[in-house]
Formats: sequence, C-alpha cells, structure tokens
Amino acid sequence: MSDVDVAGKTVLLRVDINSPMDPQTKEFLDVTRIRAIIPTMNKLKSAKVVILAHQSRRGKYDFTSTLGHARELGRLLGRKVQWVNDIHGERAMQAIEQMSNGDILMLNNVRMDDDELLKGDISTLSDTSMVQHLASIADVFVNDAFACAHRGSASIVGFTSHIPCIAGVLMGKEIKKLDQALEQPVRPCLAVLGGVKIDDSIEVAQNMLRNNIADEIWATGGVANVFFHVKGIDIGKENIDFLIKAAEGAWDHVVDIATSLLANFPEKIRLPVDVAVNVENNRVDIPLDKLPFGAPIHDLGIKSIFEISTAIKNAGTVILNGPAGVFEHNDFALGTFEILNACAESNAYTVVGGGHTATLVTKRNLAKKMGHVSTGGGACLDYIAGRALPGVVSLESSAALFSMELTKVTKSK
Ligand code: 3PG
Repeated sequence: MSDVDVAGKTVLLRVDINSPMDPQTKEFLDVTRIRAIIPTMNKLKSAKVVILAHQSRRGKYDFTSTLGHARELGRLLGRKVQWVNDIHGERAMQAIEQMSNGDILMLNNVRMDDDELLKGDISTLSDTSMVQHLASIADVFVNDAFACAHRGSASIVGFTSHIPCIAGVLMGKEIKKLDQALEQPVRPCLAVLGGVKIDDSIEVAQNMLRNNIADEIWATGGVANVFFHVKGIDIGKENIDFLIKAAEGAWDHVVDIATSLLANFPEKIRLPVDVAVNVENNRVDIPLDKLPFGAPIHDLGIKSIFEISTAIKNAGTVILNGPAGVFEHNDFALGTFEILNACAESNAYTVVGGGHTATLVTKRNLAKKMGHVSTGGGACLDYIAGRALPGVVSLESSAALFSMELTKVTKSK
C-alpha cells in the first residue's frame, strides 16, 4: 500500500473482521480484528472506502449482519462509518455513487450473497455479478483480509483481473512476521493444534508433517478426539456426534487423513494421556482407559497439561492454534490457559493463530510475550504449512497484470 496513492479513488477494501460474539446478546467478545485494520484505514483517509466483510458462516448462531462491525469501526476510528443493508444491489450501488472523498461505507455480510459461496477458479469467480458490479465502481481493490486469504471465494480472488489488487498493511505485516518464523525455524518445532475446525486442522497437520515443518504435532481439543477415534479408542456417542457435526460434511475425509497420518508419522503425533469430562457441569479427570464415560470430553487431563507445557517450554518454535478445551467454562479452561502460559514462559519463537486463541492471548495480557499473534487461524496455519493462499496468489497475479497501472498511480503522488 505504501507504493500506491489512493487519494480521490474509490477503494474496495476486503477485511476479515469476523469476531467472536456472545451467543445470547450477540455482543462482540473481542474486537481485535476490527482494531487490526486501523492502520490500513488510516492510509485510506483521502479515498472513498467501500468495505467488504463477512461474519461467521450460514447456519451458525453468530452469522449476523455487519451493522455492529460498522458501528464498532466508527467508534474505534472516531469517524463516521455508513452501513448499507445490501452487498451489490441497487441500494449498495447508489450509496457508493453518493460517496465523497474520506467517506467510509460498509456493505452487509458478504456471505449472505450466493456468489460468495460459489466454488470455482479465479475466472469463474470474476464472472459473478457481485464481482462485476463492485469492480465497475472501484479503482483499486485492497485485500487486508489475511485471516481469510486461504478461502478462494469471490470477494477474495474475484477482482484479480478486473482492477489492480494490492495488499493492505495488515496483510503485509502478517506475511512478514510469519516469514520470520519460516525462514529460521529453531528446532524442535511443535504445532499444537486444537479447536473444533477439525477439517482444517487435520489438513494442516498433514502438510506440516509432509513438508517437514513441524517435528511434532501435539493434538488437543477436537483434533485429539479425532485421533482417539481413529486409534480405536471408543470416546462415546456424544463426542463422536459432536465431531461429525464440527466436520461439516467432511467427516470421512477427516478420518481418512487422520488414519494415514497415524500410520505414516506415528512417533510425531502426540496425543493426550488423559482427559477431563463434563459430568453435570463438573470437571472429572479420567485416564483414557476409562473412556467412554458417557460424558462430553471438555479439556485435556492434568497429566497431559503437564506434558504439553513441558514440551512447549523446551521447544525452539511453537505454532499454536485452537483452544484445548471448552475454555468458556472455568472448570475446562485449564488446558487452554496453561498452554498459553507455557508459550509465554517459553524461550521458543511462538506464533499464535486463530480467532479464539488470539482473543485469549489479548485478554490475558500475554501478547507481548509471544513472537507473533496472528489475526488468522486457518490462513496462518496454511501459510506456515507451505500452502499457497488464494488471496496472496491473487495479489501476485494482479500485480503482474496491472504493474503499469500501479506505476501510474504511484507516480501521481
Ligand atoms: C476465520 O475466522 O478464521 C476467518 O474469518 C475465516 O473464517 P472461515 O473459516 O469461516 O472461512
């Protein structure tokens, strides 16, 4: 962005301000991702900024409009942020046409539009009406949505060949910080993978092991439960049902990958030796041979917490993503909190990714003790695992296509 003068231009800005929400009140539990786009917003002060953003996924309790995000951004910036209940229809296009330099307009949740859910290559996605309509009114596309750069959706890659696409400040910062970890990884490098996005995490584990990035994968949370199941440990119906739902249709795929990882890298996959189950809202620590216990597994057991914390303290590099348990419930937050404490105390270069994990780091005041707290979850892991991120590939392709135009924009400074 520092090479481009956007004054007076209409800038389409894709951000990832997908934020955790209270299930009842729908109030934000953390606004780190909204705060993280401020440097880019400041660089765009003299442009007309049209913001494209998503919140959650269809069918989830936190799949809401972006009105709250617009209000919060306005509050953080101390500037007016208009919002329109539309994405690329008549109302949105009219609102964009009426903008003056310095105005900010946020469009509604882009995942409410079917075009955003379409799967396909860049050329298919550039043909969608959403992309065509929005590209027709914008001069430049700025991608600051590092956290969803791993999604090849229309709002991320569709503009590649329509208008010059450039990286926002946050996008640039994330890539620089992650490259630091990749260029000089101090061994041993541990990936501590938890959370409930088990389909993403299992693929990341596969890439990290195949590409020799991680020396060990320490599985926690839902990821550990998948491996238990694949190893033939009966974790009980309630836990299996939960995993199948979390896999969102990819359960067989998840099981296939986990099976092949256990077969090919048995000594590199480290599993908990005990778990904590939730019995009528009370924590009960049990060894694995007591499973199935007829209760949901909600945390690592004490012995496992000790083992994993020791490994983190002795590591050279730690990549942490996803909580180890149901940290929202005090009794089951122990694993997650102790892992974070171990990362903060370790001399290892620690990269913390993932919405929830990063939120906890901020809340527990540990950010300064980590190497890098990424705003990305899956995107951060995919990047570290050596996968090309569609959002980044799109920026590179667009730069190659529009280098002349970008030079002209620069010269007009
Ligand atoms: C995230 O929270 O990791 C990003 O916003 C991407 O969300 P997604 O996994 O729903 O695509």
